Amino acid sequence: MGIKAAITAVGGYVPDYRLTNSILETMVDTTNDWIMSRTGIEERRILKEEGAGTSFMAIKAAEELLEKRGIDASEIELVICATATPDMMVASTAAYVATKIGAVNAFSFDLQSACSSFLYGLVTGAQFIEAGTHKKVLVIGADKMSSIIDYTDRTTCVIFGDGAGAVLLEPNEEGLGLQDSVLKSDGSGREFLYIKSGGSMHPSSEETVQKREHFVHQEGPQVFKFAVTNMADVSGQIMERNNLSADDVAFLVPHQANKRIIDATARRMGIGEDKVMLNIHKYGNTTSGTLPLCLWDYEKRLKKGDNIIFSAFGGGFTWGSVFLTWAYDPS
Ligand code: UT7
Repeated sequence: MGIKAAITAVGGYVPDYRLTNSILETMVDTTNDWIMSRTGIEERRILKEEGAGTSFMAIKAAEELLEKRGIDASEIELVICATATPDMMVASTAAYVATKIGAVNAFSFDLQSACSSFLYGLVTGAQFIEAGTHKKVLVIGADKMSSIIDYTDRTTCVIFGDGAGAVLLEPNEEGLGLQDSVLKSDGSGREFLYIKSGGSMHPSSEETVQKREHFVHQEGPQVFKFAVTNMADVSGQIMERNNLSADDVAFLVPHQANKRIIDATARRMGIGEDKVMLNIHKYGNTTSGTLPLCLWDYEKRLKKGDNIIFSAFGGGFTWGSVFLTWAYDPS
């Protein structure tokens, strides 16, 4: 049967501060009704601690996971930090996180593919387990989206929030764990969702800052269209080639970008609302945090052997779907 990479523990962290729709109504020209009906978001968490970056949340999620799993950080051999908002442009956030949690025997790297970062990280981490070279891989999805959002732009500031989730991957010889994945990208999508400046093409300058080019720009309706089609396509594909009917699927774990995108994906898969993990109303779109935070919120409802399908779409464009069987019962 060979070795599969199973998720054996989950951790999470969201900041305390709640940015509600009514607070946003005082900041930009928007309404609770518009936000609720167009996105399904009621509030998002914002990291307010002075000088704290993405690593702050990633460390908290990882520490919670280690405590739950009851293992010492020195057992971790690899830390992948999936993030679109690293602490700094160059120094690896993953390296800092690994050192801070005491993962002294791990190597570590960041993985950036916008909202698909965690999904790509999960599949990447699994390769090290399946190859038999590594036995404990920590995959963290963390983003401080508030650091790259323009709070005068109503088309983006109502959507995003901050948060982090983490999973531990370990070998499983009972056939449980990651079963299949479909990962895709299409660089022609980068004109619809990007941060124009601060990278190598347009380094930051007084002018780029004045033009607010260091913030996320999104052509919402265009991204929406691609997200709906592509998330549904890859999720359908993964069900088909693994002979899964909707009845076989215990949960869909969709990227939390917009409730309408999630509903459309579930509909195309024939999966009922009760089987769709949903927390967008509480956290908004936390980019790399959405999928592991879903697992964090729903962990108690997952049983050993459950078939779950992850589905994500993000900037680049990048997207994909993963089929995984859950490896443990709630404690
Ligand atoms: O996670 C990475 C991938 N990202 C996504 O998947 C996001 C995909 N896109 C979306 O979720 C949606 O496109 C948005 C939520 C961003 C926008 O919703 P929409 O239904 O596509 O709205 P729209 O952009 O077509 O705007 C409709 C109207 C416009 O006004 P006019 O031109 O019709 O007068 C906007 O200016 O709504 C206006 N509008 C707002 N009104 C109140 C845009 N943002 C707001 C707002 N409050 N916050």
